[in-house]
Amino acid sequence: MRAREDRLRSAALAAGQEHLFRHWTSLSEASRARLLEEIEGIDFALVGHHRALASGEVAAHKQSAFTPADVFPLARSEAHHARAREAEQRGIEALSRGHVGYLLVAGGQASRLGYEGPKGAYRIGPVSDWSLFEIHARRLRAAAARYGCPAPWYVMTSRGNDAQTREFFAEHGYFGLDARDVMFFSQSMVPALDFEGRILMSAEDRLFLAPNGHGGSLEAFARSGALDDARRRGLRHLSYFQVDNPLAPPADPLFLGLHALEGASMSSKVVEKRDAGEKVGVIGRVDGKLSCIEYTDLPSELREARDEHGKLRFGAGNIALHVLDVEFIGELNRGGLQLPWHLARKSMEVWEAGALVKKQGVKFETFVFDALEKSERSVTLEVARQREFSPVKNSAGEDSPATTRADLCRLHAQWVRSVGLPLPEADESGLHPVEVDPLLAEDLETFVARGRHRPEVRGRGHLYR
Ligand code: UD1
Repeated sequence: MRAREDRLRSAALAAGQEHLFRHWTSLSEASRARLLEEIEGIDFALVGHHRALASGEVAAHKQSAFTPADVFPLARSEAHHARAREAEQRGIEALSRGHVGYLLVAGGQASRLGYEGPKGAYRIGPVSDWSLFEIHARRLRAAAARYGCPAPWYVMTSRGNDAQTREFFAEHGYFGLDARDVMFFSQSMVPALDFEGRILMSAEDRLFLAPNGHGGSLEAFARSGALDDARRRGLRHLSYFQVDNPLAPPADPLFLGLHALEGASMSSKVVEKRDAGEKVGVIGRVDGKLSCIEYTDLPSELREARDEHGKLRFGAGNIALHVLDVEFIGELNRGGLQLPWHLARKSMEVWEAGALVKKQGVKFETFVFDALEKSERSVTLEVARQREFSPVKNSAGEDSPATTRADLCRLHAQWVRSVGLPLPEADESGLHPVEVDPLLAEDLETFVARGRHRPEVRGRGHLYR
């Protein structure tokens, strides 16, 4: 223990982090052992890099070179329709040959929702009361049934919610999926720093560690063995989605097909931004490559800029639905994954002078969409917001559980109306509480074609399943 202590003390001292040992003499043996273990896990070179990181450096170049992206639009010409038909066929082929796997990022905390526990466990179904995880799982079961092959699902967690997430899946019988097709892997954690670049603590013997952003999924996918598993299964493409969006359609033949026909390594879906201030990243072009500027980094002259038709010039809102080639992830990891680090200044509860106190500090994250710049070819597909994007981000107001439930009811009420069936009585806000199980149908066409339309009555709502 003594030699290890000396070695780690010298490393901390050399890195300007000697304060980590400040309370050493008052620590119990167990706490000393734990602290040494924590310090052993620190990548001091990376922390040094973070200390030196000048905020805004990455964004500055991007901002000056940013131009709008070419988008495969929702309003389609004849040529687009022809390409879309060809792409759909190609996508169906990829899906039915078992070339597609699914990657869900669910490592972030649900703290913005004021909810303790993994965000995916949050119950969002307006009539069914299903959790976010369950709705995603039902979509994957639907894909497996439709294309006649398994839907391997890689679920990224983080240190704070890994055990709870695994338990939640086990308690719910993997929502009817084969447990062998659900693989969990955990992203890495990085120390948060104070404004002087010192590593923060969360207890006398614990560092303040935060998840390294969803860009960490690309590194953790390779490190955890998921990449090898995907190769063993013969997967070529991964459909990537975020846990917070229950409308995300994981198995979209058009998107997969356009990506494959283009020979792309990473592709993205976008929606037209609601307004200039909407908190979504924007997909555009930098130095000939596709790229995304996060809403926090988009300067107001770009945010507000309009084209000759009065539309937002940078209106391609990133909805965090991507296709990534399995071998692209392999290549990105060759020689160590290099994605730029982004800083977030946040208030956090840290351990200082023997007590927990609120303090401003800096967290460091990488973003998955920064990998777009490393993709030689890429497709940007515009989709309809009401069908594919309604994220749960805040406890109230925009993008909250209330707006997501309302969006689900509105969409499904349209389907029910279009087959001429009666809707349940509207609630105080004018919404008809109706929900369609993704296992029954994920779009209007399938809903109509199913022809079996007897709802299960649940309270005041109707659930079609
Ligand atoms: C994110 C995107 C934004 C996009 C929007 C669409 C970032 C930085 N921005 O914004 O461009 O327009 O979604 O909804 O992501 N996650 C992890 N590990 C982490 C951090 C996040 O797994 O370390 C997961 C979360 O569980 C969540 C997702 O990534 O599912 C998004 O993270 P969040 O921090 O909520 O991003 P937003 O600010 O909402």
